[in-house]
Amino acid sequence: MSESSVEISSLQLNTQQKPIKILLIEDDIVEARLIQEILKSFNLNEFCLAHVKRLQTGIQRLRQEKFDLVLLDLTLPDSQGLASVELLVQNFSHLPIVVLTNTNDNRLAIEAVKRGSQDYLVKRNINIDVLVRSIQYAIERQKASDLLRETNENLMNQIQQKTAELMKAKEINHFQSELVSMFSHDFRSPLTTVLSCAELLQNKDDRLSEEKKVYLFQMLRNASKNMVQLLDEVLLVGRTDADTFQCNLTDLNLELFCLELVEDLQFSADKKQIKIMFEPQGIIEPTAWDQSLLRHILGNLLANAVKYSPEGKQVKFELIPQEQEMIFRIQDWGIGIPAADHQNLFQPFHRASNVGRIPGTGLGLAIAKSCVEAHQGRIKIDSQVNQGTTVTVALPLLYNS
Ligand SMILES: Nc1ncnc2c1ncn2[C@@H]1O[C@H](COP(=O)(O)OP(=O)(O)OP(=O)(O)O)[C@@H](O)[C@H]1O
Ligand SMILES: [Mg+2]
Repeated sequence: MSESSVEISSLQLNTQQKPIKILLIEDDIVEARLIQEILKSFNLNEFCLAHVKRLQTGIQRLRQEKFDLVLLDLTLPDSQGLASVELLVQNFSHLPIVVLTNTNDNRLAIEAVKRGSQDYLVKRNINIDVLVRSIQYAIERQKASDLLRETNENLMNQIQQKTAELMKAKEINHFQSELVSMFSHDFRSPLTTVLSCAELLQNKDDRLSEEKKVYLFQMLRNASKNMVQLLDEVLLVGRTDADTFQCNLTDLNLELFCLELVEDLQFSADKKQIKIMFEPQGIIEPTAWDQSLLRHILGNLLANAVKYSPEGKQVKFELIPQEQEMIFRIQDWGIGIPAADHQNLFQPFHRASNVGRIPGTGLGLAIAKSCVEAHQGRIKIDSQVNQGTTVTVALPLLYNS
């Protein structure tokens, strides 16, 4: 056999079974011939043996055709010891390797097995039984370890899939509890209106003009309508979990919608003699909006402007249409926000240091921000202590398809 030995000596070919194809990488021609002779003398199995003298030639050969096993000498001209095993394992991870050692070097042989070869043979001890047993054993062992690897990979995939499902369930859970906080928070505003109107109608009924009574009943109706809408949303959440924060667009007369929001707040504003000036600018073209998200956003911002303004001040609510987006600007001349609190304003439950006895839970802005994001928009707060606060929300103009 020569270095380039492309020829495969087919030994004991059996027409029923496919021969076991072996690549022998061995630079010592005498050793190579010995192995060939041993295999030739074996009667029960069939083998195809190809021989090369260098590791690189062997690698090339393995790339060109499929072998069932490699017999690898550990002292080759172009590679020595364990490096040869590592290179083969790296390049052909499913190929069984049996290493051939010259001396009775147990340590090297065991290390070779650790690095991925299936078995080792000490050359001087090779005989027919040892060689054939080792070849068969290496092939079976490789099959078993491939199967084990495959089972492991399947298990890992299953674990990853289950972990992803668990994370998703946890996310939905977290999301639902956020929504519960949001709805219970936003129920409070119309409830306060209902309670205040009812109290006024009950205690001062004889002193109220007909006009004022009509106004109070109108407020009562609006607040109740608000609560019914909120309830509908709660029910919707129960049905659709995480999808609820998505934007559900409907055609809307934005100007009228904002005016109604202002009216809803008028009652608490009136109590402090605060005038809310609603100033829509230019022509507001008909566009599509998610009414629920808008109500959470603007309702919370307007409520803040009124709540954090001293008596007798004004609140300005502007609607400024742009080419691609609508700007909602809500400005007050109230207590303002200290610079140190600016970066945490959208964190749930964060309240600025100057709120004093003004009631609140610190959820309104967090809710507003989530809703702005669901509407693919931006929110920005400019504020100075004792000067006032301006909140600017920019929402893209979307159209119902
Ligand atoms: N217009 C404003 N003027 C002054 N401070 C404001 C204004 N808006 C928000 N803040 C500050 O930001 C904090 C967070 O506002 P957020 O609306 O989230 O909560 P809250 O008003 O305290 O309570 P609630 O959950 O009832 O709305 C407020 O506690 C307040 O300190
Ligand atoms: Mg608030």
